Amino acid sequence: MRAPRSILLTGATGLLGRDVLVRLLAADARMRAFVVVRDAERWAACSRDLPHAERVTPVVGDLCADGLGLDAWARQQVRRNVTGVVHLAADTTFSRPLAQARAVNTEGTLRVLELAAECAFPVRVAYVSTAFVAGKRVGVISENDGAHDAGWVNAYEQSKYEAETLVRAQAADWAIFRSSTVVCNDVNGGVTQLNAVHRALQLYRNGLAAMMPGVIDSALDAVTTSYVSRAIAELALSDDVSRKTVHLCAGTGSLPLQELLDITWERWAIDLAWRRRAIPRPALADLQTYMLFERSVEQIGDPSLKRVTRALSDFVPQLAMPKRFETTTADTLLGARAPSVRDFWIPMLDGLAMNWAADRRAA
Ligand SMILES: NC(=O)c1ccc[n+]([C@@H]2O[C@H](COP(=O)([O-])OP(=O)(O)OC[C@H]3O[C@@H](n4cnc5c(N)ncnc54)[C@H](OP(=O)(O)O)[C@@H]3O)[C@@H](O)[C@H]2O)c1
Repeated sequence: MRAPRSILLTGATGLLGRDVLVRLLAADARMRAFVVVRDAERWAACSRDLPHAERVTPVVGDLCADGLGLDAWARQQVRRNVTGVVHLAADTTFSRPLAQARAVNTEGTLRVLELAAECAFPVRVAYVSTAFVAGKRVGVISENDGAHDAGWVNAYEQSKYEAETLVRAQAADWAIFRSSTVVCNDVNGGVTQLNAVHRALQLYRNGLAAMMPGVIDSALDAVTTSYVSRAIAELALSDDVSRKTVHLCAGTGSLPLQELLDITWERWAIDLAWRRRAIPRPALADLQTYMLFERSVEQIGDPSLKRVTRALSDFVPQLAMPKRFETTTADTLLGARAPSVRDFWIPMLDGLAMNWAADRRAA
């Protein structure tokens, strides 16, 4: 591990960024961090009780602004002191138009790379990407796989893929961490941030997911916040990952889709009131059949069903493009595999049910 004087971290107000920051600071008592935040008030709220806060300097900035929108003082401090960049900030909404996703995720990454290149010391750029830069590819996805022409399910995937290409081409030293979908905090299952997987589950629970795309070998790859953030904090500045791409994914620990639907149904059916509603498991259909279903929903015009299929359209097609993420580099460097999805699926369902119950009470 090199001895960084200071790091620049983006995305510190996000799900993974805060956790990564805390772990990096805890691991090295000499480390200081500049965090690029869009909104000083949000940062103030988010950094209340932040361990090691005395070593953190917030600088107001935006990935979409020239020079990241840093003022002259912040820019000078970063240029003089930073030896490592951990870039997590992104627009993580799947449904953005391509231009909007690119503006934050691709062009924003370019601005981070430009700043890194201006620094006085050689800078390692650790870029946090998504395993789904693999887009519409199927089969085994290797950590060494870079360019492909299979296309993407949504603009988020494409913009992150394009950012990876920039990082490899422009950073003097880089490491790319491709995270799978984060579905809960740790193996105990608490859910802090809702995403497309949780929304699909909510529709299933409410009997609104009559059909889901999926083929016989489809499986859900998912991970916990603690696994991903610990791995990033441990490896981001390590010489062992220089110019390497690392999959932070369940890999062989993914959960086959049919089994996932069955386990989920059985867990919810413990609640007799839910069981009495006789909600069926969604039928798995190939992508073509699912698209026909989606089109007919659009034509028939049932507004609630339309809302459902539209909400899922930027995410669920991935389920019919079965892929398994190879994790050899991550497993070797971390000395252990990610927890398997089976290890935390039921605690995650229970955590989610608690969140929904709290929402109902608050409504
Ligand atoms: N969570 C997952 O399931 C998952 C899976 C795979 C990969 N990843 C990747 O992991 C990284 C972190 O994800 P996350 O889930 O922690 O994200 P998140 O909770 O959605 O947080 C996004 C972060 O990016 C910041 N940000 C967004 N737009 C910005 C802009 N224009 N300028 C500066 N900062 C901006 C946000 O700041 P504000 O507070 O100002 O909005 C926030 O700190 C992302 O790169 C994501 O692509 C996440």
